[in-house]
Amino acid sequence: MARIKPLILFCLIGILSSFNIASAQKLTVQQKVEVLVKKMTLAEKIGQLNQYNGDWDATGPVTKDVGNKLDAIKRGEVGSILNITGVKHTRVFQEAAMQSRLKIPLLFGQDVIHGYSITFPIPLAEAASWDLPAIERSARVAATEAAAGGVHWTFAPMVDIARDPRWGRVMEGAGEDPYLGSLIAGARVRGFQGKGLGNLDAVMACAKHFTAYGAAIGGRDYNSVDMSLRTLWEIYLPPFKAAVDAGAATFMNSFNDLNGTPASANSYLMRDILKGKWGFKGFVVSDWGSIGEMINHGYVKDNYEAAKASINAGSDMDMESRSYINNLAKLVADKKVSVVVIDDAVKRILTKKFEMGLFDDPYRFCNADRENSVLNAPAHIAAAKDMADKSIVLLKNENNLLPLSQNLSSIALIGPLVKSKAEMKGFWAQNIGDESQIVSLYEGMQQAAPKANLLYAKGCAITDTSKAGFDEAYKTAMQADVVVMAMGERPDMTGEAKSRSNIHLPGVQEELIQKIMATGKPVVVLLMSGRPMVFDWTADHVPAILYTWWLGNQAGTAMADVLFGKYNPGAKLPITFPRTEGQIPIYYNHLNTGRPAHGDNDVNYTSAYIDLPNSPKFAFGHGLSYTTFKYSNLKLSKKSMRKDGSITVTFDLQNTGKYAGEEVAQFYLRDLVSQPVRPVKELKGFEKVSLQPGETKTITFTINKQKLSFYNDQLQWITQPGDFRLMIGSASDDIRLEDGFTLM
Ligand code: GLC
Repeated sequence: MARIKPLILFCLIGILSSFNIASAQKLTVQQKVEVLVKKMTLAEKIGQLNQYNGDWDATGPVTKDVGNKLDAIKRGEVGSILNITGVKHTRVFQEAAMQSRLKIPLLFGQDVIHGYSITFPIPLAEAASWDLPAIERSARVAATEAAAGGVHWTFAPMVDIARDPRWGRVMEGAGEDPYLGSLIAGARVRGFQGKGLGNLDAVMACAKHFTAYGAAIGGRDYNSVDMSLRTLWEIYLPPFKAAVDAGAATFMNSFNDLNGTPASANSYLMRDILKGKWGFKGFVVSDWGSIGEMINHGYVKDNYEAAKASINAGSDMDMESRSYINNLAKLVADKKVSVVVIDDAVKRILTKKFEMGLFDDPYRFCNADRENSVLNAPAHIAAAKDMADKSIVLLKNENNLLPLSQNLSSIALIGPLVKSKAEMKGFWAQNIGDESQIVSLYEGMQQAAPKANLLYAKGCAITDTSKAGFDEAYKTAMQADVVVMAMGERPDMTGEAKSRSNIHLPGVQEELIQKIMATGKPVVVLLMSGRPMVFDWTADHVPAILYTWWLGNQAGTAMADVLFGKYNPGAKLPITFPRTEGQIPIYYNHLNTGRPAHGDNDVNYTSAYIDLPNSPKFAFGHGLSYTTFKYSNLKLSKKSMRKDGSITVTFDLQNTGKYAGEEVAQFYLRDLVSQPVRPVKELKGFEKVSLQPGETKTITFTINKQKLSFYNDQLQWITQPGDFRLMIGSASDDIRLEDGFTLM
């Protein structure tokens, strides 16, 4: 009998504990979060709201340190670490977290903006592809590699609308248009998060920078933003709403003040809009130090007030300002911040950690075998090449100089970027991956035209003013059948804190182009940059120009394939190219004014400059092909519709040239009479169509209430009866078909 008792007891514990395990497994994430939060001390809760940099690459101004961060993690004072990559390293930090009292795992965040080990074209280049599946795949590959590298969370996509190319971060987004930008935001969020958090190839996305950061006055990074709420809702918010709709796990607020209130403490943005109207359930991280920087803004007097303003406004996690870790406990004691507010932030963060499966296995993203097998996979390289092909914009091709014949006997490659490799990665590229694997233009040409005699001269540097190399470049060009020039900025002339007041092609590069043109040889110029540059003489005098941005690992291969016509370029500009800085801001969806200029040189009491043509150098949506396309047979299902009705628009698109090619047919609408007034055109649809020579496809667009609605001055989303124009074309300034209809 005596022996039976322990046995019974043992079985009972077994049943109970299995019941506990079973019941624990049956708990929802929310229930698990509630159970855990109840166990946490206030200090442990505040620790979850604190994010430190990993002391390797700093992506912001490094403040005085807090001593050993591993010890802080063991004390439960840290919820997330950024800028630590590689499973060997993330494991060390996670092991420290497992020594904390409640063993709450860390989140590892990283700026995986356009690729992880295999670098893809910069986001603005990808936007030029207008190819949503390719853009989603690019993010998917980046997420797959980053997750294998121990990253849980990418600080991407950056979805800031940008209308000012002086702003260095224009490279990081999708350009000037809210419709295109919203579709791309959704594609990137879906790409990063894949089949959902918890999958080993999914990372949390982070829609940033919330918000209107791209409207910094003067295009000067971090500068103030001042705009009407109608412009905010009409132009700058839509891509963020698209990110919410796509399920973005997190948001990041921006450095700028919006109409005087810094984004980090802007409860209108975070509480009213994001977490209120839009019902966002994820969490918001500040930008680097942005909470503490509100002292500089003059919005608060110290970090105590900064922490109070930010946490109450909805900033859940404090990146690197130490305001939360150093002040929230006192703010709660002083009854300036409620524990309820703290708990909401903690629950949002813990929910993501549970969804990522980190409580089941904190090391599930720390698998060295997976890291070795996933990074740099051939399929990733192929995807990068495909994206690069699709990102190259053919700005000009007079007399069909391009594509080049592969039978050319000698080609002169001239310019400071001909042999560049690391530069092809652009800004925000990771310091991961083997840079020797990046293909330069020179190497791409060697691969594409092995029989050609490739001549080379650097000619000049990117920014300095020496012309010492001009003569050698001239002589080199004289020996060749054709000249290909690789010109542009340095990759660190765009990106964060890289605004330029002068966005001309830097240094003496345009003079070198003039010198080479004087040889009389056929000249092709490739322009590499993260922004629209100004290159007026080149644009007017060089017969063939390709804008290649920064194309990533497969840059040279893609450029060579386009030059020789192995790939027929089909990209379109996602942002307007000004003639000069004096034209900025200039964008396609502008209002008409009471004195619109008619044509480039109409200055007769019109809204125009007397010293510059009115049009941009290259318009939003511009991009040529080696073939030509004919738009015809426009039909509307009816000429009027009611608010709850629709009109079906069809037209035929034919490839009338001799090369297979892709065309992005663009669909614009104009509301002719409305209060307030509407832009002269707004992108409301597009279709990227592949056509063989001679092939015709019928394309369909649908007009519905959503496409005719807009915000009035009371921020109501309305439609107004009246007449509309529809315009279909190859660019915003190349309309091929037009018609009108009426909203009853
Ligand atoms: C930077 C950037 C932000 C980035 C963060 C972390 O300052 O503004 O986009 O994600 O810090 O690197």
